[in-house]
Amino acid sequence: MDLHLTNKKALVTGSTTGIGFAIASFLAQERAAVVVNGRSQGRVEEAVRRMKRENKDAQVTGVAADLGTKAGVDLLTKTVPTLDILVNNLGIYEAKPFTDISDEDWLRFFEVNVLSGVRLSRFYLPAMLQRNWGRVVFISSESGVNIPVEMVHYGVTKTAQIALAYLALTASDLWPGRGWNFVFGEANLRQRTGVWSIYRNGDPGDDFTLCLRRTLGTASHELCHVLTLHHCTAFRCLMNGSNHQQERDQRPLHPCPVCLRKLCWNLRAEAVPYLMKLNTFCQQNRLDPESGWYERALEALAGGNE
Ligand SMILES: NC(=O)c1ccc[n+]([C@@H]2O[C@H](COP(=O)([O-])OP(=O)(O)OC[C@H]3O[C@@H](n4cnc5c(N)ncnc54)[C@H](OP(=O)(O)O)[C@@H]3O)[C@@H](O)[C@H]2O)c1
Ligand SMILES: [Zn+2]
Ligand SMILES: [Zn+2]
Repeated sequence: MDLHLTNKKALVTGSTTGIGFAIASFLAQERAAVVVNGRSQGRVEEAVRRMKRENKDAQVTGVAADLGTKAGVDLLTKTVPTLDILVNNLGIYEAKPFTDISDEDWLRFFEVNVLSGVRLSRFYLPAMLQRNWGRVVFISSESGVNIPVEMVHYGVTKTAQIALAYLALTASDLWPGRGWNFVFGEANLRQRTGVWSIYRNGDPGDDFTLCLRRTLGTASHELCHVLTLHHCTAFRCLMNGSNHQQERDQRPLHPCPVCLRKLCWNLRAEAVPYLMKLNTFCQQNRLDPESGWYERALEALAGGNE
């Protein structure tokens, strides 16, 4: 596999052993420059040695820092000031009856499992956005969806991680290629995820507008699912369900008045400025039927008769 990660700088938190070490090794195989982390210098050095033993070409360094503390995060961010890939893998767990879990336990779990990722993401994210490339991954757990009775505090911190990683957009395509029965878009509100494939929308060199229209259609339809909208049966609408590309191509790009209202409520947006922005975008990108619809909607709203 080539994930095009050559020389990308990647940090995996809590990676002297376990899942973290496995992720770090995989990234090193993909030729990323990997930073491993654990609390003690000895174990970090041992992990670096082990990775180099297993893969002599691995670009790997290590930083010993307790990421359950602000001081530890500060030390790490000083040593590694920029990153392309941040994998918030660090997570602690222990079995304890709910009635025995003290305030100190709750706070420690929150600080190690949630705040470590929050602090690191807050530090590294702005530069990733500025460079227009970056990945922040949280390793949560099935325990965040189905809280284990024997470690409620662990489960709650894992739910918090899922809540934090709300939505991400990437142009990297997940569709492996023709012959694969991959949905062209799917989203789930409860799991807070949405994926869609751009690659299968056709060749932009042949028909750019068609590819753009398809991408906008699927991406905004799936995003609306993440923003709590269900399939619409009220009108012809972006949120009508579809089963194949041909059917999808016949769906409009705009939401119907019912879905627009829900969307504006969810985004806390005012309908008129929102529609004006969409109209400008459609005009700039030669999406003529769509811009015609936005103009009629804006006229109707200005007249106050719809
Ligand atoms: N194991 C599972 O079955 C499972 C299932 C679902 C999700 N997960 C999640 O996957 C992640 C990794 O789990 P794992 O089982 O692989 O963990 P693990 O084997 O217990 O590994 C823990 C790693 O974290 C490091 N670490 C612990 N406290 C640290 C701290 N305060 N600062 C920096 N590093 C620290 C440890 O390094 P040192 O000891 O060298 O400091 C070690 O490298 C966790 O987020 C966990 O919730 C695990
Ligand atoms: Zn749908
Ligand atoms: Zn609708």
